[in-house]
Amino acid sequence: MKIITHENLWWWGKSYTMIADDGKSMIELAIEDDEERNYFGTIQSLLVHESVRQQGRGNVMLMFAEEKAKKLGLKQVVLCARKGTFLIPWYQRNGYEIYDENPEYSKGQTVAMNKYFEDKD
Ligand SMILES: CC(C)(COP(=O)(O)OP(=O)(O)OC[C@H]1O[C@@H](n2cnc3c(N)ncnc32)[C@H](O)[C@@H]1OP(=O)(O)O)[C@@H](O)C(=O)NCCC(=O)NCCS
Repeated sequence: MKIITHENLWWWGKSYTMIADDGKSMIELAIEDDEERNYFGTIQSLLVHESVRQQGRGNVMLMFAEEKAKKLGLKQVVLCARKGTFLIPWYQRNGYEIYDENPEYSKGQTVAMNKYFEDKD
């Protein structure tokens, strides 16, 4: 599987949409143009088509997005995961920690998680 990266410019910053060449999986990394915030990226829209789930693609896409974030010099990535799903323990196995149990925007449905690529200090 090859992953194609689209670089997108928006009024608020930049995003990278990474799509498998068969169209069956994607992930996005968004980086806002804000000097205080540009050291991190937000991972969103991780999707694997139902026909190819549980074959490791989710892991491949997540790792690809993290590598992109590292190459861009970001210090951390953040994401949201729905409560009560396998997603939270999966992200934890991949080094993510919950930093907000109740982000305001998600009306109690998700937790906010982050992963540092290097020591916080
Ligand atoms: C989340 C999603 C991308 C995972 O894709 P996937 O290709 O099936 O993931 P993988 O096969 O790489 O599995 C990733 C991990 O999750 C676990 N997992 C995957 N599906 C699971 C399920 N239905 N139940 C329990 N665990 C599951 C795997 O065991 C694996 O754990 P491991 O890495 O410790 O072995 C896919 O289910 C999906 O597109 N869901 C709908 C969209 C969504 O919820 N996106 C996440 C937004 S935060």
